[in-house]
Amino acid sequence: MSAWKQSTAAELSPESLAALIRNEIPAIRIENFADAEECAAFTKAVYDSPDLKSYSVATPTHYLGLVMYEYRQDGGRKQEFFDAVPEAVAAQEKLYKQSFDVPQRFRDLIGAHHPGDVLVPSEPDYGDYCPVVVRIASNGVHLHADYAPYNSPDWAIGGIEDQITWNLYTQCPSVGGETTVYNKPWVPAEGEDPARGLPDGSVETDDSIESFTFAPKVGEVVLFNPRNPHKIAAGATEGEGRVSIGSFLGTKGADLWMWS
Ligand SMILES: [Fe+2]
Repeated sequence: MSAWKQSTAAELSPESLAALIRNEIPAIRIENFADAEECAAFTKAVYDSPDLKSYSVATPTHYLGLVMYEYRQDGGRKQEFFDAVPEAVAAQEKLYKQSFDVPQRFRDLIGAHHPGDVLVPSEPDYGDYCPVVVRIASNGVHLHADYAPYNSPDWAIGGIEDQITWNLYTQCPSVGGETTVYNKPWVPAEGEDPARGLPDGSVETDDSIESFTFAPKVGEVVLFNPRNPHKIAAGATEGEGRVSIGSFLGTKGADLWMWS
């Protein structure tokens, strides 16, 4: 484990993107990725969507699209996952029609700051991954870590080298909803099921471990390295939503693979 070279988030540049991938900085923030009107339209489309689903975790978290997390547990349901991709992508495309094509704008922007291509990977003999997921996480998300070589070793994405994540926030609670990232790249403990992605919880109380906390703003994209344990605080006011859309990005040679 090595210390971050700065304690604050960086602006997006080719250098900061490379540094984030190497876990040398805590985060990148891209303000005004989308304007207030676009975010309001997107948020409304999410709440109005008939396609919202729930995660099978203790804290109620809704999502729209497809998340690997649900399909990699208990040995994995690969066929089911890839069978569900076209419908998930179609549900997300309906949102873009009511607002704007979020992943396309993101791919164009990030592609201009990365030497290789930004691709949605395919699983040989199964099909394409789902590029993004939309989430309503108003009640927070427990401490966890995401790193495909550990949590999905039998999937194509398990072959990536380094993993970062990005999210656009289209609705944020006025109080609460902060994300905290701890600089201690996850290594699964002996006897733990890595598919669950549960890091050692002592990072939350160990003062020797650097952390970075951000309260997202509407319209901004924040990227961080999700192999670092991270959590989301609940919104302080009941009924205030936290809506985001994003994905993982994994390095594969010069390219970035994008999946959810
Ligand atoms: Fe995560």
